[in-house]
Amino acid sequence: MTTSPNEAILEPIERASRDEVQALQLQRLQWSVRHTYDNVAPFRAKCDAKGVHPDDLKQLSDLSLFPFMTKADLRDHYPFGLFAAPRDQIIRLHASSGTTGKSVVMGYTAADLDTWAQLVARSLRAAGVKPGEMVHNAYGYGMFTGGLGAHYGIERLGCTVVPVSGGQTVKQVQQIIDFRPDAIMVTPSFSLVIAEEFERQGIQPGDISLKVGIFGAEAWGEGMRAEIEAKLGIDAVDIYGLTEVMGPGVASECIETKDGPVIWEDHFYPEIIDSETGDVLPDGSEGELVFTSLTKVASPVIRYRTRDLTALLPPTARSFRRIKKITGRTDDMLIIRGVNVFPSQIEEQIMADTALAPIYQIHVSRPSHLDEVEVHCEVKREVSAQLDAATIAAIGDRLKQRIKANIGISTQVKVFPADSLQRIEVGKAKRVYDTRAQQI
Ligand code: DLL
Repeated sequence: MTTSPNEAILEPIERASRDEVQALQLQRLQWSVRHTYDNVAPFRAKCDAKGVHPDDLKQLSDLSLFPFMTKADLRDHYPFGLFAAPRDQIIRLHASSGTTGKSVVMGYTAADLDTWAQLVARSLRAAGVKPGEMVHNAYGYGMFTGGLGAHYGIERLGCTVVPVSGGQTVKQVQQIIDFRPDAIMVTPSFSLVIAEEFERQGIQPGDISLKVGIFGAEAWGEGMRAEIEAKLGIDAVDIYGLTEVMGPGVASECIETKDGPVIWEDHFYPEIIDSETGDVLPDGSEGELVFTSLTKVASPVIRYRTRDLTALLPPTARSFRRIKKITGRTDDMLIIRGVNVFPSQIEEQIMADTALAPIYQIHVSRPSHLDEVEVHCEVKREVSAQLDAATIAAIGDRLKQRIKANIGISTQVKVFPADSLQRIEVGKAKRVYDTRAQQI
């Protein structure tokens, strides 16, 4: 195991042997499956229909006998039908944004909120944040888990929280200048909007007080990491989570290795499955991430299909396994004239050109019978003055050729001047504009 600068303050389980981790997981898994079976009637009905019972869970691999839970299950039993604790013991509700249909609602008991705060505090510590430091929290507050989830973890670590939420970029930048926070928690896309405002005000990365940023809620590649680190003069680490499983802090990256979010495996048991067949795949294989909560009381999830695509990687800085940076979601995948394409693959090609800004849109349409893709991107502000029309056209052509060569699809590329594309200040970045469904 890599030695951590935080070695002295790690919780014992973060340094335990794999045998110890697995023994704890089995004990907690048996509790969680039984708790859900006893208290959530629709889960019990699914188990009974499959002929499987909590008593069948004798080793970790027996989990594969149990049925999956999906977003559809949560929607079918909207709002509280899958709660496993009495309504009056639930002291908080959160909901997913519901951009793709009815939102899903999850409940938290006092014990659940305590676990969540502890895991976000652990995530912050993994990012190198120390008690007494100040954290600017620009995740949205409200039903979204980002704002409040981060908030209580920041307080739990003993830091000062600046609860700014999303939006009001100019004001946020002023607060960062005046308050001099050590760390920022924000979506990668909004952090770039903040960085642009610093640039506009002529403030150099070296003069910004921030040392580290903890970025999540959206997919972001290594190219984006390098860009954010350079623009803000910080280390950028990745925090992962989802409403259905808890919120931010299901997994989080360690600053000493920056090699993918470490799953807090003492609270969440991961599996990777083939999303077509549902078969469990060995560690290292790419597939759909599935989580079983081990300690949640109000809204436990058993084999919840996240739709996120990744692979399980061996432990490095901690005793727990990691996830590879999320490349996309099964429902993000675009099928372009029969070729499967993830927005992250197009992002990777854009980021390979140092003249292009990390801001883009993918427009998909079907004007006649064939799919058409237009990639909209922007030149970086710092180089825009030096570029004439011919050079900009050549940048577009190069991107088009790289996309064709590496991804295998033909596109139209439009390269816009700096600051042309819409910036999203609140919520998650919107990359894909697919009008095909309306055109059929
Ligand atoms: O986005 C929770 C969160 C808030 C995580 C703040 C991190 C920071 P949802 O709105 O339910 O919850 O969206 C969950 O967002 O299934 C992934 O597809 C995506 N996602 C979250 N974190 C990452 C990440 C929050 N670090 C969905 N990398 C998940 C890539 C991420 N995708």
